[in-house]
Order: sequence, then structure tokens, then C-alpha cells
Amino acid sequence: MQRSHKTVNFQSLDIDLIKLRTQHTARENINYFESLNSTNSYLLEQGQCGDICISEKQTNGRGRRGNQWISPQTGNIFFSQCWCLDEPTKYWSLLGLITGIAIAEALQDIGLKNHGVKWPNDIYWQQRKLGGILLEAPGQSGKVVIGIGLNINVSDINSSKIDQPFVGLNDAIQNEFSRDELIIALINRLHHQLSGFADFDFKHFKKTWKIWDILQGQTVKFEHKGEIIKGKVLDINEDGCLGILTEKGDVSFFSSADIRLHKRGT
Ligand code: BTN
Repeated sequence: MQRSHKTVNFQSLDIDLIKLRTQHTARENINYFESLNSTNSYLLEQGQCGDICISEKQTNGRGRRGNQWISPQTGNIFFSQCWCLDEPTKYWSLLGLITGIAIAEALQDIGLKNHGVKWPNDIYWQQRKLGGILLEAPGQSGKVVIGIGLNINVSDINSSKIDQPFVGLNDAIQNEFSRDELIIALINRLHHQLSGFADFDFKHFKKTWKIWDILQGQTVKFEHKGEIIKGKVLDINEDGCLGILTEKGDVSFFSSADIRLHKRGT
């Protein structure tokens, strides 16, 4: 189906303003490019703890499961941050979910409604993908690169190259917003979520997760190790695995899956 899109001109980001309004470690560490192969690759190669990398365009943007992340210069956000943890934590596997919460909160800060996180690493607005998260760790150093792609303007994107419904923020949001405001909110929300990670409280996390989790209670269907799983989404556990009450009546936990929302009757 052909959709109509709002076309909004975009300006380059005002990095000085962003630095001024992000009062934390990010201040001096924002690397901003017109074009880059991938903001994740840049930080994997040369990122220090806390560094941020933003590019207006990526020539080799990467998504999960080896997919390409289509990254033209149309105002979309290509953002990565290098994060390090001094102490090992058993909650590493929740990092992607925590990042998803931070993104959802930042989008709320600038006025978006009716969005949420689709386990494990997608940002959704009304059944359509608004953004995705790619976590990559260069080794056992406790360092991780958190990559975030957010669609802002998808009017020129060739949808035949993308295998699921997607949307841009320009079409999802009712109010005016600036990309600077979005980046500021994102950096601040990420900082808040990530800096609390050392003293992580799973119960508190679950309460926040429930606010943003769009899968809970949904009937879903997906393929796992060659088997089709159909069931109802229950909750996540301390390892970030998703609990499903399957058709067979048992509860199984999954550490990763490409879950598509399952329409009733199919
Ligand atoms: C997904 O497959 O949903 C994850 C997409 C992650 C894309 C972002 S864009 C910024 C960063 N750099 C990359 O090459 N990928 C991530």
C-alpha cells in the first residue's frame, strides 16, 4: 500500500546546543559527521567510554542479524554511544531493553504518543517500526557500543528493500519538534538509564518495562530453531528472555526471536 508522507526539511544538528544541554559525560565527546560508513563501526574502532558518534548518513549502516540498515541523508538519526561498565553485572543481557526504554522516554519527551518497545530491540509506533537498536561488544573489556537508528523522514525510502512495516517520526508525531531536541532527550535519557545500571534493581526495571512493552499479552507467532512457535506473551525474566505460554500449554523462555505481531484468526 502506498502511504503519503509529510516532507519536512531538516537542518544539520546544532552540536554546540546539544553539548550545552547534555550536562553529563557526553559534553566533550560528540563526534559528528556528514557521512560515515557506520557510527557503530567508528566507535568500535576508536571509541572511548562515553563517546558518542552521530552521522547524517551511513554508507554501510548495519542492522541486527546481519541486515543492512538503509541510511540515506534524509534527516534520519544514526547515533551510537560507547559505554563501559567497571563492575561486571549479571544484567548485561538487559542492556538492549534498557536502551529501548531510554529511547521511548526520549520520544515521549518531545511529544510522541502511542509508541513502545517491541522486545528485544525495536521501537514501534502503531504496529510499524520507528527504530532499532544494535549492540556490539568489541571484546571482553566490559565495553559495548550501543547503536540506535531512528526513522524521521521515510518519504524517499524504497520500501521494497525493507521486510516489515515502518514509519518515520515526521508522520507519527502530531506536534512540531526539532532533531536537536530529540538528540538532547536521547542523550540525557540514555545517561540516566545507563548510569543506574551498576546498581540495577530488576523489580524497578520491570515496572518501567511494563509501561513500554508492546508485546505483553499479545498472541505471537515466530520461528525458532526451525520450529513455528505460537503463543501468548507473558513477561521477561532476569536474563531478558521472553516468556511465552505456548499453544501446547507450557511456558518457554526465548533469548532472541524475530517476533511478528500475529493477527487474530491467522
Ligand atoms: C535493527 O536491525 O533494528 C538495528 C538497527 C540499528 C541501526 C543503527 S544506525 C546507528 C548504528 N550504526 C549502525 O551501523 N547501526 C546502528
